[in-house]
Formats: sequence, structure tokens, C-alpha cells
Amino acid sequence: MGHDHHHKFDPADAARLDDPRRRDVLPPAPLVAALPLHPGDRVADLGTGTGYWLRALLDAAPAGTRFWAVDTETAMLDHLADRLRDHPRRADVMTVRSTEHAVPLPDASVDVAVMGMVYHELADRRGYLAEVRRLLVPGGRLAIIDWAVLPPDAERTMGPPNDERVPFETAKAELAAAGFDDVVRVEGYQETWCVVAATTKDPIGDCDAIEFLVEQLPGGSYVARSIGACVTTEADTLDELRAAVREAVCCHFDEGCKPAAVRLRFFTVVREEMVPL
Ligand SMILES: C[S@@+](CC[C@H](N)C(=O)[O-])C[C@H]1O[C@@H](n2cnc3c(N)ncnc32)[C@H](O)[C@@H]1O
Repeated sequence: MGHDHHHKFDPADAARLDDPRRRDVLPPAPLVAALPLHPGDRVADLGTGTGYWLRALLDAAPAGTRFWAVDTETAMLDHLADRLRDHPRRADVMTVRSTEHAVPLPDASVDVAVMGMVYHELADRRGYLAEVRRLLVPGGRLAIIDWAVLPPDAERTMGPPNDERVPFETAKAELAAAGFDDVVRVEGYQETWCVVAATTKDPIGDCDAIEFLVEQLPGGSYVARSIGACVTTEADTLDELRAAVREAVCCHFDEGCKPAAVRLRFFTVVREEMVPL
């Protein structure tokens, strides 16, 4: 079998995630110490598996911290539920089944996201980081821990082969490109790298965006009408529409009162009726 670079962990091997040797190679303590949690924090463990990192964080979390255990595999979420069955704080954990690219949680609903040994498995790391930014509140934190690329002659205790691993420098550049401008490496790991990343710049807030309703006309072209301001613009393609909307909004508003972004809402008519007068 050739290596596909997004080789997924086989849920049938779930027991390996609780191998006691993991405590030596992947001690939870440095990560837990680097991610202080506050009452009310909402923590999402993305690619939770059997909840190795989630359970360590749960044990250290103050009362009132809530957890989402997210995984693409229901088998993994079942294993996690098993392991939490007798946990006194099992009610603080909700399991969430996700897809490869999307987590079904609302925008800005997560204070702390964690990704343990899953970054190297992602099919689209940049796309996934954008999804994590969508989930995080402004100033939210993301911790990633993953396997380091080892020198060719180094002995590998566990984890995937070298060619499936993501070098730390690559991850760091990808985090910067995704808008994480505060990236701190966590010390205390040898065969792995660990970072805590945060954004200091606010993502565009809802109130800073002007909304347009976009309708596709029978001929295939598009019309966009602003809500709350009288701006209407048309274009043949979506790319042209984006450009036209940008230009129309820039003309309409004086510098200084201009919104930070445009939200396009695409709509289809689901029902139509006549109200006689
Ligand atoms: C190697 S396991 C690590 C599990 C756990 N974080 C740990 O370190 O023990 C990787 C996990 O990520 C999950 N996974 C892979 N791609 C994913 C994605 N795009 N979104 C969510 N989970 C994913 C897999 O199903 C698997 O449970």
C-alpha cells in the first residue's frame, strides 16, 4: 500500500490510544499547564479519539467548564463514552460527530480548541484551521500537539512514519497564514511538538458587516441587494458579483463609516403566495 498522506487512525486500534507508554511519550501535564481553563470555558477536543487529552483537561478543569468531544468516527465517540461512563463529570462532556472539513458547532462558540495527534491526518489543514477560527471566540486559544519529524536514523517509539508527519515549522507557517498571530511553543515534549496559538486580532464581527441578499436570476446572472442601505448591484458570475459589491459599498459609504466586510446571503424562494388587497 502506498502512503496516502492523510492516513487515518483505524478505530479498530482504539486501545493503542490508551497504551500506558503514551504517558511517557505524550505526557498530558505540559499541555494542561499551558492551557489554563476558567469556569465557563467551552473546550472542543477536535479528533478526540478515546479522549486521551480531553480526560486530562477535564480532570484539571474548574467546575463549570464544558467540553465538546469531536470526531469524525462514531466508533471513537462510543469508545470515549465508554471511558467516561463512571466519570463524575461525564455530564460536562458532549460528543459531536463532525465531517472531515466541518464541525457542526456555531460561530464563536468555543474558547479553547485542542487537536491531539490529528493535525497530520487532516486532508486540508489550511481549510481546517479556518474552520477552527470560525469556532473560536475572539481571543480564543488553539493547542495543537503532533508528531515531530525525526532524523532518519532515530528510533520511533510510536506514531506514524516520518513521511506522514508535519514538521513544526510547517504547522507554524500554516497557523500564521490562518490568522493565528500569537503562537507559543510548549516545552516538555521530545518526539512531538506542541503549540498554543491565539488570535489577537478580532475576526470580523457581525455588526461590522453589511448584508446583501443574493438571488440568482433565471438567466444565471446574480443580483445582490443590501439590507438596510439602498445598494443594488448585478453581475454575470459570482466573482464579478463580489467585485461589484465591494466597489458599490466603497462608493456608498464615506471612509470612516465603511463596514469592515460584506456578508452575502444567498437565498432561494421556498414558497410564494399572493395576498389579495
Ligand atoms: C491518532 S487519533 C488521536 C486521538 C486523540 N486525540 C489522542 O491523541 O489520543 C486521531 C483521531 O482524529 C480523528 N480525525 C481524523 N480526521 C479528523 C477530522 N477531520 N475531524 C475530526 N476528527 C478527525 C480520527 O477519527 C481519530 O479519532
